[in-house]
Amino acid sequence: MSDDFITITDDCIGCGNCADVCPRYIFEVVEKKARPNANLFRCHDCGHCVSVCPEEAIVHHRLIVKSLEEDFPKKGKTLSYEEVLETIRQRRSIRCFSNKQVSEEQIKQLIDLGRYAPTGHNDRAVCYTIINDREKLEHLIDTMISFFKKLINQLKNPFWNLIAYAAGKGGTVKRAKKSLYRLDSHIEHWEKGIDKVLHYSSTLILIHTHKDTSAPKEDCNIAAQNIALGAPTLGIGATFIGYVQKSWENSRIVKDLLDLPKDHHLYACLAIGYPKNKYRRLIPRPEPSVVLK
Ligand SMILES: Cc1cc2nc3c(=O)[nH]c(=O)nc-3n(C[C@H](O)[C@H](O)[C@H](O)COP(=O)(O)O)c2cc1C
Ligand code: SF4
Ligand code: SF4
Repeated sequence: MSDDFITITDDCIGCGNCADVCPRYIFEVVEKKARPNANLFRCHDCGHCVSVCPEEAIVHHRLIVKSLEEDFPKKGKTLSYEEVLETIRQRRSIRCFSNKQVSEEQIKQLIDLGRYAPTGHNDRAVCYTIINDREKLEHLIDTMISFFKKLINQLKNPFWNLIAYAAGKGGTVKRAKKSLYRLDSHIEHWEKGIDKVLHYSSTLILIHTHKDTSAPKEDCNIAAQNIALGAPTLGIGATFIGYVQKSWENSRIVKDLLDLPKDHHLYACLAIGYPKNKYRRLIPRPEPSVVLK
C-alpha cells in the first residue's frame, strides 16, 4: 500500500477520514484499508490527510509533520469566540508609530503569521520584501510625493484629461480626482516634516507574488490580514498602505526603487511599528447587510 510519496501503514483502520478531507480525490477505502489512487500526482501538499488520520497511518514523504503538542506544548483549549472577536475588534490601522524599531526576530514572527494563511490551490507563492530602515522609507516617501505632484498636475490638465477619457480611463480619473485633496494634504504635511504617508513607520512589509498563480491578490491580502491581526499580540501595530501599492502600479520611479522581482505584482503593503497612541475605546460598526435564504 505504498506509492512514491504517500505510504499508508498497516495501522490504517479504514475510517475514511482521509478521503473525506482530501480536496484532490486521492484516497479510496477498499476492504477497510485506505489507498491512494491514480489522482496521487494531483496532490498539492496541503497535509489535511495526515492531520486527520486517527492512527497516524499516513506517511507523506514530502511533508515533515509534527503533532500539535510538539509545536504548542502549552496548548489547552482553542480561543473562545469572545477572545477572537476581541482580537479582531482591537486591531486598528495605526496612524502614528513611535520611533522604536521592530526587531528582526519580531519581523520573522510576523511573517510566520502570513505563512500559515490559506492560498488558492495551496499555491504558497506569497513573497515578502521588507524595508526596515527609516531613511530608506523617507526616500520612498520623497519619491511618492514627486509622483503625487506629477499626478495632480496631470489631473488638473484639461488636455491630459481628454486623452485619459479617450483611452477609456474616465473612471480611474474620476476616482483619482476625488482623492486630490488627500494627495494635496499629504504633500503639504510632508513638506512641513509631518508623515501622513507611512505614519512615521520604520518598517514596511511589501507582499507580492507572480501574477499567474490562481488567486494572487487574495493570497497576498489574506496573508497581510493574518499579520495585521496577530501583530498586536507582540505590541506591534500594522496599517495597510494602499498609496505605496498605487504608486508602484503607476510610477516607474517608485517601481524601480522598490525593485521587486520583474514577474511579480505588489498586492499588499503593511507599515508596521509600535503605536504611539493607546487605543482606549472600541468603536461600533454599522450592521452589515445580511441575507438569509
Ligand atoms: C482564494 C482562495 C480560494 C480557494 N478556493 C477553494 C475552493 O474552491 N475549494 C476548496 O476546497 N478550497 C479552496 N481554497 C482552500 C485552499 O485550497 C486551502 O487553503 C489550501 O489547500 C491549504 O489548506 P489549509 O487552508 O487548510 O491550510 C481556497 C483558498 C483561497 C485562499
Ligand atoms: S496532502 Fe492534501 S492533496 Fe495531498 S493527499 Fe493529502 S489531503 Fe490530498
Ligand atoms: S484516515 Fe488514516 S486510518 Fe482512516 S482510512 Fe485514512 S489512512 Fe486509514
